[in-house]
Amino acid sequence: MASFVNELVNYVYFDKQSLLVSACSIAFNPLFWNIVARQEYRNKLLTNLFGGSSRVACYGLAATIFSLGIVRDLVFKIAIAEQPSHPLLETPYVKAAAAVLFLAGNVLVVTSTWSLGITGTFLGDYFGFLMDEMVTGFPFNVTGAPMYWGSTMSFLATALYFGKPAGILLTVWVYIVYVIALRYEDPFTAGIYAKREQERAAGKKQN
Ligand SMILES: *[C@@H]1O[C@H](CO)[C@@H](O)[C@H](O)[C@H]1NC(C)=O
Repeated sequence: MASFVNELVNYVYFDKQSLLVSACSIAFNPLFWNIVARQEYRNKLLTNLFGGSSRVACYGLAATIFSLGIVRDLVFKIAIAEQPSHPLLETPYVKAAAAVLFLAGNVLVVTSTWSLGITGTFLGDYFGFLMDEMVTGFPFNVTGAPMYWGSTMSFLATALYFGKPAGILLTVWVYIVYVIALRYEDPFTAGIYAKREQERAAGKKQN
């Protein structure tokens, strides 16, 4: 395992600036949406910015997050293009595995967006658009965070397809960033829903 990691790291040019830029853009995105969404939840930052409409504000955030994702993917592709490929990864089998991984990752992302809708996918809960009940069907019966793991799989797939150890390393970074993001997000969203349950219970008592 250690020698395998060594072997991979030997194929990473750490002095390429694009590698650092890619790592930063990977970390920036969840940082950005969490800071902005919490400001929305506490101070209605985006709703005020968008002239008082929470729905328009949420769609605005969705479009921004989506665009940032495209930029991040582009920067990642540019970064790994400047990195060496490893001969052991440059086989048709690895390419085939990469294609399957890419497809599976995108199935997770697309079906998750499909079942949650735009506001459900892009932090609508912070704007007051709560789901009536928890979505438990596919892909949520396979993984709790299909968006994150689907996206991670796409990164790994791209790295493998082009045979780039640096891409694998950046994928590990994506994974770490998402694990941290989930630790930060999950309790907060759980709190938003717990608050609604309390309000519902209080409402029932009054009736
Ligand atoms: C998840 O749910 C889908 C139907 O929505 C079902 O076909 C599938 O077998 C389920 N998978 C698991 C692992 O439970």
